[in-house]
Amino acid sequence: MKGVIIAELIRWMEQAFSPAIADAVITRSEVPGDGVYTTVGNYSHAEALALMGALAEISGEPVPVLADSYGFWLASRFMELYPQMFEGYTDAVTFLRDVDGQHHREVTKLYPDARTPSIVVDIDGEELTVSYGSHRPLADIAHGLVRGYIAYYGDDLEVIRDPGSPGPHAARFLVRAPSRQSVS
Ligand code: HEM
Repeated sequence: MKGVIIAELIRWMEQAFSPAIADAVITRSEVPGDGVYTTVGNYSHAEALALMGALAEISGEPVPVLADSYGFWLASRFMELYPQMFEGYTDAVTFLRDVDGQHHREVTKLYPDARTPSIVVDIDGEELTVSYGSHRPLADIAHGLVRGYIAYYGDDLEVIRDPGSPGPHAARFLVRAPSRQSVS
């Protein structure tokens, strides 16, 4: 996996928790290289899982909750790191539709050894389904990324994870207008 995903995971831990907690996580997870990752380097995704597992033990939060929060935060970091990929978009649906065919394709031009997940978007009337598939078990990060882009574009949409999707290597997210309770 490209170092950018793990380097940013460390940065998120420093910001969302503290630099001391990030250090404790690196020590506890026993990842090689003392937690130093270069953006262009390639590392096993097992290192990201080990770091999240250690953070779960230290923080008491379950790994899926942490991975989802990290994905949400990562959405805005991608905008800072790769601003050219966001030019011309004004809504989350149009943006998400182009991830597979354009943005992840750009990623593989930047990093020829990247193996990006498949992000397939289906639109059926008012409903949108985003399907994630990967040899890596990172569906919770994908969930957070989808939520993050919807929040960024300010769209009034909710994201519901299909409980029937097999996860963590695959997941389906239903994106739709929130169902409102009628006030009587
Ligand atoms: C312009 C926006 C995006 C950029 C710049 C981007 C960039 C990247 C990069 C650099 C990687 C690492 C690839 C590797 O390790 O080989 C990656 C992986 C990943 N991307 Fe994206 N991505 C974007 C949008 C999205 C969106 C919208 C989703 C979710 C729906 C997503 C889901 C993931 C996941 C979960 C991974 C981790 C690797 C895996 O699960 O196989 N990405 N992305």
